[in-house]
Amino acid sequence: MADHRKRQMQEIPISLGQDVQQICVCYDVYSDEILGAIQDGADSVEKISYRTYACQGCGNCRFKIEALLEGGVPLSVE
Ligand code: FES
Repeated sequence: MADHRKRQMQEIPISLGQDVQQICVCYDVYSDEILGAIQDGADSVEKISYRTYACQGCGNCRFKIEALLEGGVPLSVE
């Protein structure tokens, strides 16, 4: 992974299974929706985008979605 991507991911804390956070500003998509899509089998940004509309605007949320994908799925999403 490129160093600049690692820095980007480190700068935006995403706490899995805890606070619900807005991930996509353009389409007002929150982390619980993203994690729900992952639990339902979406395993790429494109599949998550198709299900939630996240990342269909400016694309600035792509690395946050990738971080959620790389962080795995928490045991429960409330
Ligand atoms: S913030 Fe997600 S598309 Fe713009």
